[in-house]
Amino acid sequence: MFIENNNTIIPDLSLIQDLDKNYCLQVFNPLPVAFTKGKGCYLYDTEGKKYLDMIGGIAVNSLGHGHPKLVSAIKNQASNLIHCSNYYYIPERSALAYTLCKKSFADKAFFCNSGAEANEAAIKLARGYFHYRNEDRYEIITAKMSFHGRTLATVAATGQPKFSEPFAPVMPGFKYVEFNNYDAILEAYTPKTAAIMLELIQGESGVHPANIEYVKMVRKFCNEKGILLIIDEVQTGIGRTGTLFCYEQYGILPDIMTLAKGLAGGIPIGAMLCTDEAATGFKVGDHGSTFGGNPLACAAALAVLEAIKDDDLLVNVNENSELIMSKLYALQKKYPCIKDVRGKGLLLGIEFDETISASQMRIELFTKGFLVSSIGTSTIRIAPPLVLKKQQALSFVKALDQILKNTIPAKRSIRDLLGTNKDTSGENK
Ligand SMILES: Cc1ncc(COP(=O)(O)O)c(C=O)c1O
Repeated sequence: MFIENNNTIIPDLSLIQDLDKNYCLQVFNPLPVAFTKGKGCYLYDTEGKKYLDMIGGIAVNSLGHGHPKLVSAIKNQASNLIHCSNYYYIPERSALAYTLCKKSFADKAFFCNSGAEANEAAIKLARGYFHYRNEDRYEIITAKMSFHGRTLATVAATGQPKFSEPFAPVMPGFKYVEFNNYDAILEAYTPKTAAIMLELIQGESGVHPANIEYVKMVRKFCNEKGILLIIDEVQTGIGRTGTLFCYEQYGILPDIMTLAKGLAGGIPIGAMLCTDEAATGFKVGDHGSTFGGNPLACAAALAVLEAIKDDDLLVNVNENSELIMSKLYALQKKYPCIKDVRGKGLLLGIEFDETISASQMRIELFTKGFLVSSIGTSTIRIAPPLVLKKQQALSFVKALDQILKNTIPAKRSIRDLLGTNKDTSGENK
């Protein structure tokens, strides 16, 4: 399977592709590349080609690749204890819960392994909250075009039917409203409503930020009705938008918040944080997870939070965000095919008009050594590591400029661009 060369084991891409095709369930549609090494914001493929990682494992590699603080925390923890189970107290879990609660609105934390699981916990908690108060409220209002995960409850929560329809019957109890439309919430509310669940930036459907006034009014409405506000910060949390949590920029406090992605810099983790009041929705035995809160993942998350603080990464996010945004606005003036530039911090979307296909742009960037994601037909998203350097940010904008100048007008097919027969036109989402 592998070719050995001077004691280095070099994976062979075509063999890897064959094995993948034959033995992995074909639910993804990867680009024809496999990475074997990462350093800082760069990834290296099987041929040693270097790529600037402007998507960071879809907003996961918050400290980039091979960050010394994260690597040493993982190594130390792995040599002491990787897993022991929630039958026992776990020092790292307690420390992480304490740290997250001190840094946020929350009083309590529950740990799991992914964003979908964190949202599952949030949905269950909201239902449990009213169950234990003997109130018949279970409905959750979510936004159209939202994304909350791939489990059966979270595809039901997700306001995009394509994610749930093939797996019908869809779990009942969700109502979908237009995003950023407060009146739609008033209409959807019933005496059965238990919670409103929102992303502050809809990341998976094109990087669409919520309006501040809208979110404030939703918060006020939840207070008036005595229902819970769940904020899904799986993608926006942990410094991604320039504050540790995105809600800080909205002048509100959630009752429940979910985290995952960047929290442990690439070690799988999810977290559901809540107030003491909301926490009454779970009694002992109501929820759990075998791996959730294990020492390894929690030690990694503690290292990420420490690095964000010690290395002033929020400042870095804001400086790079301003730089990229200003350069992108300049590009927009130069190329009218750039329809919109939006987002916060280092979660940005660049939307093109119908003359540019986002998947073609993604592949043009890929061939130049830049990794981004494409969303739908018109938007590319960037979510680079929080440790991005200014010169790296500038090199990305320069590459985009060059592509818009040279390549795009002569529309090339995706197969031509990649020199492959593989159809890699789509994203996985
Ligand atoms: C806002 C949001 N919530 C939930 C999820 C699901 O997270 P996971 O893939 O870790 O289950 C995602 C993933 O993209 C997300 O962006």
